[in-house]
Amino acid sequence: MAKIVFESVTKTFPRKQAKGRRAGVLGAGGSFTALDGVDLEIGAGEFVVVVGPSGCGKSTLLDLLGGLTRPSSGRILLDGEPVTGPGLDRGIVFQQYALLPWRTALGNIEFGLEATGVPRRERTARAREFLDLVGLTGFEDRHPHELSGGMRQRVAIARSLAYDPDVLLMDEPFAALDAQTRESLQDELRRIWQRTGKTVVFITHGIEEAVYLGQRVAVMTSRPGRIKEAVPVSFGDRATGAGGEELRSSPEFARYRHEIWTLLHDEVARAQQLEKEEATV
Ligand SMILES: Nc1ncnc2c1ncn2[C@@H]1O[C@H](COP(=O)(O)OP(=O)(O)O)[C@@H](O)[C@H]1O
Ligand SMILES: [Mg+2]
Repeated sequence: MAKIVFESVTKTFPRKQAKGRRAGVLGAGGSFTALDGVDLEIGAGEFVVVVGPSGCGKSTLLDLLGGLTRPSSGRILLDGEPVTGPGLDRGIVFQQYALLPWRTALGNIEFGLEATGVPRRERTARAREFLDLVGLTGFEDRHPHELSGGMRQRVAIARSLAYDPDVLLMDEPFAALDAQTRESLQDELRRIWQRTGKTVVFITHGIEEAVYLGQRVAVMTSRPGRIKEAVPVSFGDRATGAGGEELRSSPEFARYRHEIWTLLHDEVARAQQLEKEEATV
């Protein structure tokens, strides 16, 4: 049985009242379709990356899976059960590190464990273990403002992992980081995924990031978003943890990058055309 199933998922938002001439074209009131018929199945332990043009509904998709919002129609199943709200079976990491500024790195990771009823002493030990896992040993007493962007994002990842969710949902978690930090966090995430066997749904608009991380890369259409194609990305020795420069500079990597670039290119062009039309109304 699939771990996660999107079944004809549609999401509409109430449209803000358009004024003047725009009202005629965009419709006054009414609704705005962000996702229109998303179908996707994700297996247990799979690492799926979702790419798509800006505004195509990637975050909307992840929010639905996180149970933060409800589909307008269709269903999302997790272990065969419809998602009805947020739960500790899913950990979410956003682009902006949502850390508590008044808590230390360790305190932020412990925070995720407080909701799960882990006894206090065990919380601290567990938080330390996950701080080690993301390479932050020695930084437990630092507050978020005393950490670099990459370190803060490591804390956010550790916090999501610490309460041991089956599924990790990541919405452009490395987008705000410099290239070098991003690449080292990509390696770290791959290592953690290989070690823990979690199901990961990772959103990015970076094609290289998608090819590097994903076992499958799902390309979305421009708005309203659907899954255009889910491309299996299989490098022979990925399972052994081979990675780094060797993988990034291989001919296979270039081939996948080109394939996904081609799929995405038409959609980005279409999204830009749509934007232009709306702006000139
Ligand atoms: N709460 C909301 N209310 C109205 N429109 C929204 C809301 N959330 C997202 N949208 C719109 O839905 C579309 C998809 O947004 P989003 O999922 O954030 O795109 P992406 O993450 O792919 O850039 C955008 O046009 C956005 O403006
Ligand atoms: Mg987004």
